[in-house]
Amino acid sequence: MKLAIIGAGNVGGTLGAAWARTAGHEILFGVRNPGADKTQALLASIGAKARAVAPAEAAGSADFIVLTMPWPQTEAAIRSLGNIAGKIILDATNPLVVGPDGLGLEIGHSISAGEKVQGWAKGASVFKTLNTTGFANMAEPIFHGVRSIMFVAGDDSTNKPKVIELVADLGFDVVDAGPLRNARLLEAHAMLWIDLALKRGLGRDWAFARLRR
Ligand SMILES: NC(=O)c1ccc[n+]([C@@H]2O[C@H](COP(=O)([O-])OP(=O)(O)OC[C@H]3O[C@@H](n4cnc5c(N)ncnc54)[C@H](OP(=O)(O)O)[C@@H]3O)[C@@H](O)[C@H]2O)c1
Repeated sequence: MKLAIIGAGNVGGTLGAAWARTAGHEILFGVRNPGADKTQALLASIGAKARAVAPAEAAGSADFIVLTMPWPQTEAAIRSLGNIAGKIILDATNPLVVGPDGLGLEIGHSISAGEKVQGWAKGASVFKTLNTTGFANMAEPIFHGVRSIMFVAGDDSTNKPKVIELVADLGFDVVDAGPLRNARLLEAHAMLWIDLALKRGLGRDWAFARLRR
């Protein structure tokens, strides 16, 4: 598959390297400055499967578009992609703001980042996923043989199996979390991971998993 990853920071860089390594996917990083030293170093670490181009060029030729930019830049980044009607979008953003108690969610009860992304990405199919664990876990989602959990929420039931398969390529135990409005739950779930990791002493080297009977 050809994947456009918009942003090549912690999440984007980690996902691009992991998808190239685990499934041989072709990675097009959509970045504002493809020649930047940090981007060139990332490309060198991944090898021939990855390139960096302008965001609109990446989005235009890809099967999937993965959003990995900070929340305040998300609307502008989507607008910079041009016509993305018909594209499949994986939205990994969390609507974080810094308040008096540190990081928190800007929105959540009546709207989510995922639903706002759908509003900006007219005609595209948006799925909320890859937002509920730390970026390093996206490269190593299996803990002592147990797959950590990753949710996919979205309304497009035709394309949802493809998104689930793509996320499973990384090694996650993938669960269909229902419609896109459930991004409200997934973004709160992400905030729980962030709160425990950064404020309650758990650190980043752990993840949620499911137990079944
Ligand atoms: N960090 C985590 O563990 C984690 C886990 C799950 C979800 N998330 C969410 O994932 C998102 C990214 O987090 P991160 O830690 O990867 O951030 P990061 O390391 O700061 O990387 C952000 C990337 O977005 C790019 N970017 C910013 N504005 C852009 C635009 N208009 N067009 C294209 N690219 C743009 C930046 O490019 P430049 O270098 O050009 O600025 C950079 O490559 C956030 O929404 C975050 O809440 C983070």
